[in-house]
Amino acid sequence: MLRFDEFMERALYEQETGFFATSGQAGAARGDFITSPEVGPLFGVLVAEYLDRCWERAGCPPTFTVVEFAAGRGALAISVRAAAPRCAAALRYHLVEVSPSLRARQAEHLPVDHGGGAGLHFFSHAGAETLPQQADLVFANELLDNIPFRLFERSGERDSGTRGEETEVARAEWREVWVNPDDGRETLERVDRTLAERLDRLAPEASPGTRIPLQERAGEWLRRALDLVGPDGTVTVVDYARTTAEMAALHQNEWVRTYRGHSRGGAPTEAPGTQDITVDVAIDQLEAVGGPSVNQSQSEWLAELGIAGLVDEGRRVWQASAAAPDLFAIRARSRVAEAEALTDPSGLGGFRVLSWGGSLE
Ligand SMILES: C[S@@+](CC[C@H](N)C(=O)[O-])C[C@H]1O[C@@H](n2cnc3c(N)ncnc32)[C@H](O)[C@@H]1O
Repeated sequence: MLRFDEFMERALYEQETGFFATSGQAGAARGDFITSPEVGPLFGVLVAEYLDRCWERAGCPPTFTVVEFAAGRGALAISVRAAAPRCAAALRYHLVEVSPSLRARQAEHLPVDHGGGAGLHFFSHAGAETLPQQADLVFANELLDNIPFRLFERSGERDSGTRGEETEVARAEWREVWVNPDDGRETLERVDRTLAERLDRLAPEASPGTRIPLQERAGEWLRRALDLVGPDGTVTVVDYARTTAEMAALHQNEWVRTYRGHSRGGAPTEAPGTQDITVDVAIDQLEAVGGPSVNQSQSEWLAELGIAGLVDEGRRVWQASAAAPDLFAIRARSRVAEAEALTDPSGLGGFRVLSWGGSLE
């Protein structure tokens, strides 16, 4: 039997058989799910603007070190580069991606690991161990939802009264989900009192039968990211998120989702390695590591970065050349559709942008 987080670790990241180690990836054509960088280049143009504002706020230092975790095939980095940010000459852009197959694809469109000389440099890493000691900005789009988490169920038990009375005392307790990797069957195991009290604090109103995630590893990632940027740097994550108490009020299927080939997959314990397993990020559990200075929706964040102006510009370019559109005009028009997808409140626009240490003003 494997604890749920160990099961998820193997299902997603095991060499040779894990979902991300083999075929799994974000993307429209070859991917299993769509993410903001994969919608098109517009998200990268706006992230480039974000990097510029962070760099300018820091006083335009000659070297500006950005670390992107969950960099995948490099889609975001490619769009940032194409956007020619003002900080390009200072920018040292480190991509961290655990999947060897996705990492291998980064070099197809990026000059990766070409150190030295002036200008924008890209460096690729399999993990945080090889990163520089210090960074100015850590950025991660849809990383935390893929970090393995522990899973618990609240159960209501009835203990018989001790003095032969007919009355019974209702007693609620928490059990942890373990998984048999061979057949996907779950077993629930009782947890100790300290852990149960911690879970009670996270979801005090949880009724018997409801489940919650414990995202200790996501919290640990945040702690390390904050160490990496130090007191003057910024950590920014973009993801779908709720509070633990909100999750406790919903069925597990509402906040643990699986994807395969752009469709919802099966139960998370089914066919390990063939589907993505993701979870809503528990904002309150991250807040326990450190309170974010920014907590807004992706559509609000993109509005501050000037998405409306870029869309208007795209529309103008398209209208000016609609009679005989060239590739430039067609790209300009696609901005309108990209912006709709990126700001849709029921989709990507409803994601949360959480930042520690930096706001845009
Ligand atoms: C949902 S995808 C997002 C990819 C990309 N950021 C995007 O938005 O298109 C999550 C990616 O995170 C990677 N990943 C998971 N844990 C990681 C970690 N600790 N460090 C770096 N990458 C990680 C996975 O291999 C996968 O490629």
